[in-house]
Amino acid sequence: MLIHQIYTFSPLRNFSYLIERENGNAVCVDPFDAAQMLDFASSLNLTIDSIINTHEHLDHYCGNAEIVKVTGAKVYAHQNAKGKIPGVDHFLTENDEVSVKDGFLGVMDTPGHTFAHLCLKYVYKDKVMAVLTGDTLFNAGVGNCHNGGDAEVLYETIKNQFHTLSDDVILYPGHDYIKNNLEFTLDREPSNKCACEWLSKVKSSDSTKMTFNVGDERGFNTFFRLDNEEVVSGLKGNVDSEKEVFLRLRELRNKW
Ligand SMILES: [Fe+2]
Repeated sequence: MLIHQIYTFSPLRNFSYLIERENGNAVCVDPFDAAQMLDFASSLNLTIDSIINTHEHLDHYCGNAEIVKVTGAKVYAHQNAKGKIPGVDHFLTENDEVSVKDGFLGVMDTPGHTFAHLCLKYVYKDKVMAVLTGDTLFNAGVGNCHNGGDAEVLYETIKNQFHTLSDDVILYPGHDYIKNNLEFTLDREPSNKCACEWLSKVKSSDSTKMTFNVGDERGFNTFFRLDNEEVVSGLKGNVDSEKEVFLRLRELRNKW
């Protein structure tokens, strides 16, 4: 496998990722626990030569320094992360590419959770196969906007860059929040059978080992179901656009 999802057992249920490059090298995305990441890489005989941070929140870069000390890896982050993440060697902008085995990681500029947030699409033979979504999109949910973000901007990012992806694109989020998120979906849309079925599977097995694709999100992520009648009619007052539905849902999820 090319993209390794590593559950960190952190209080915020962070995922880190290790992606294989050519010649036994690897890119590490959002290292949380440096020792865990270094052990995992060496168990696969991989050397971490690069680190990419999806954004400037500490739980997405706190493993950087130790990995750099051990491996000399170069650190990459969004250009707006200047002065916010220590020790960045290269700043990235939309459409920059980082080569990996059999393809490349393409940089997506994805503001909303913060304004220094990037996502990474894994492109193989001109096709987007997967997206590492950081705290922009979670399974069955989206990121919050209360630590340097903006919900209206997040709406534009989700609508323009994620609703438009093919169903078979696999998603690799920054945290495992699927159980709470499915419960929120069912709070908003009690008749959603897909969310109901997945919630019972998530409760009876290990969600940190599961991956979902964009087609799954269309079924159970309320932020992909902005025109659903039950979702819309459950919101109080005048809701006359998908954007307004998104903003209300984001607001409700904040207090839920
Ligand atoms: Fe986070």
